[in-house]
Amino acid sequence: MMSRRKIFVGNWKMNKTPQEAQAFCEAFAPAIGGVSNADIGLAASNLLLPSLTTRFRGIQWFAQNCHWAASGAFTGEVSTSMLKSVDVSGSLVAHSERRQMCGETNLSAGQRVAALLGAGMQAILCVGETLTERDSGRWTDVLKTQLSEAFEATGIKHWTAALGSDPERPLLTLAYEPVWAIGTGRAATSAQAQEAHAFIRGWLKENLGTEVSQRLRIQYGGSVTLQNVDELMSMPDIDGALVGGASLKAEDFAQLVTRGAKSV
Ligand code: 13P
Repeated sequence: MMSRRKIFVGNWKMNKTPQEAQAFCEAFAPAIGGVSNADIGLAASNLLLPSLTTRFRGIQWFAQNCHWAASGAFTGEVSTSMLKSVDVSGSLVAHSERRQMCGETNLSAGQRVAALLGAGMQAILCVGETLTERDSGRWTDVLKTQLSEAFEATGIKHWTAALGSDPERPLLTLAYEPVWAIGTGRAATSAQAQEAHAFIRGWLKENLGTEVSQRLRIQYGGSVTLQNVDELMSMPDIDGALVGGASLKAEDFAQLVTRGAKSV
């Protein structure tokens, strides 16, 4: 089995003023200085990104959303070139909160991924089922639809771009975030998460081939904490975490990342 470099990203969602973000990073950056075997990033509000990317270069910076058009009449959106111009590495795409509250679809998710990969930037595409979908046993169908519709919209030509030029850091990352585990304190068990990740990797293999399926990283998200990170990260198909609540305090998130990066 190919070993994949882990990727931990904190998703701050709509939290932190510029002052709070700066104070976080002043504590967080030195605390993660010793972690060399994993990628570490934060997904912050667009308001915060320009000054943070300049001041804290050891952290990979992500937007929480990004539009597919180069420019134009898209009120409230941000483009890849705007993000790139301030050294942002990439963006989350189709987080479940945007699917539920902002009308994000699999089609628009695919368009956003295509724009990011086309610009040579990282995309973290979020997928995951609701509690009703899990309880009714339809979760694999839901994941399959989310993946196939987004990838159809992305266009197959982007699949070489998805791997990027750095063998350890493919540009595309998938994030499995079951909606029922987000912000609920009820994380998926490591067995449930591994089963879903293996399903996603199987879909990648079937549709995009063995190399893509072995190299792309799949993060788990949903109530990841210092207490469960070890066990989740020890699973063979879990290649990192997308962390909400537990990424808001610098010391806690630094500990979580340090611990998670050690798990094999
Ligand atoms: P929590 O870690 O707060 O459950 O949030 C997960 C999430 O939505 C990360 O994108």
